[in-house]
Amino acid sequence: MTLCLGIETSCDETALALVRDGKLLAQRIATQVDAHALFGGVVPELASREHLRALGPLLDGLLADTGVTPAELDAVCVARGPGLLGSLLVGMSLAKGLALATGAALVGVNHLWAHLLAPALDRPFAFPALGLLVSGGHTQTYRMDSPVAFTTLGRTLDDAAGEAFDKAAKTLNLPYPGGRFIDVLGQLAEADPGMFPRPYVANDSLDFSFSGLKTAMVNHVAANPGLRAPALVDDLDALVADLRARGALEPLARVCASYTLAVADTLRIKTARALDAFPQARSLAVAGGVAANSVVRRTLAGLAAERGLAAVLPPLALCTDNAAMIALAGECLFRAGYRHGLDLEAVPRGRRIPWDYRRTEPCPGGVFGELAP
Ligand code: KG4
Ligand code: ZN
Repeated sequence: MTLCLGIETSCDETALALVRDGKLLAQRIATQVDAHALFGGVVPELASREHLRALGPLLDGLLADTGVTPAELDAVCVARGPGLLGSLLVGMSLAKGLALATGAALVGVNHLWAHLLAPALDRPFAFPALGLLVSGGHTQTYRMDSPVAFTTLGRTLDDAAGEAFDKAAKTLNLPYPGGRFIDVLGQLAEADPGMFPRPYVANDSLDFSFSGLKTAMVNHVAANPGLRAPALVDDLDALVADLRARGALEPLARVCASYTLAVADTLRIKTARALDAFPQARSLAVAGGVAANSVVRRTLAGLAAERGLAAVLPPLALCTDNAAMIALAGECLFRAGYRHGLDLEAVPRGRRIPWDYRRTEPCPGGVFGELAP
């Protein structure tokens, strides 16, 4: 039996969770979305301060919810990157303090790997697996040989899929973060498959490039300025009602549907190519905020079915940033015998995350039994 605390402060969600033997006991999340919405994007300095303000009460709440005491923790698992450096440091400071005070093991976790393991909190899945991570900051495919051995296959050369959604939403005068708005509006119309290109697919690369798609949206809206939502309305139902009353719903919904289809198709083409490069895969795991997108989910579930693979799609609550996934990924590492010292460093976005664990004896029973059926 292992009991792990997960700490997530890499971007704009402050989250703490307790995981025991691969199962979520409890989680507390404080979102900062409202604090940043005013600025149309995450403001790093503000994010760090909000994390610092939120963490203490969240920890008190989590311990009260579960009756767990810090002394019972086997491992304190913390997102050590990639992310905003100041924000990561807030979570890491708490992790180091707790590990030092309790004697629990300190385990730094790659936030991106954790996203891909998140679906296992809901349902076990078989390794090896191909992982597609689609978030606001990253679009990557991974060869996942085990829960603690990932190799990057493809990555974005410029914008991430989530960024492509958010920037398109901004162009359409939809609120930030706009992925969900484009998804929901797109469900109200038929997509035109020819409206937007499938970027960077006419090659044999496993990498992605979404900046051209964003530009295609900018150009399309410049040519059709009437498409922009007339007012920045935060509430989706109110927005739909307002657009309908103005007779502006159909054209905007059609653009959203067509854009979503272009992103989903591009992800399908590149993921199919990655699967060709990794024929040993038994599962296709899709994770990150964009894995909440209805068309992306349907498209990749279809690809998995075509290839005879298990489609691993997390429930919506596990798609976005959370601490349960950090605790689970950390538990896998802990059980496999991987630990960090107090010299654990935070790694900002854009820098490679080092494999710098200290090795100890794996836990009896190992790590994989809990995740593989
Ligand atoms: O993984 P995530 O919560 O945060 C990180 O980037 O780490 O992903 C956030 C991204 C945002 O770009 C957001 O617009 C996008 O996920 N997103 C969606 C949907 N829900 C969230 N994009 C498309 N459709 C959605 N339903
Ligand atoms: Zn994330």
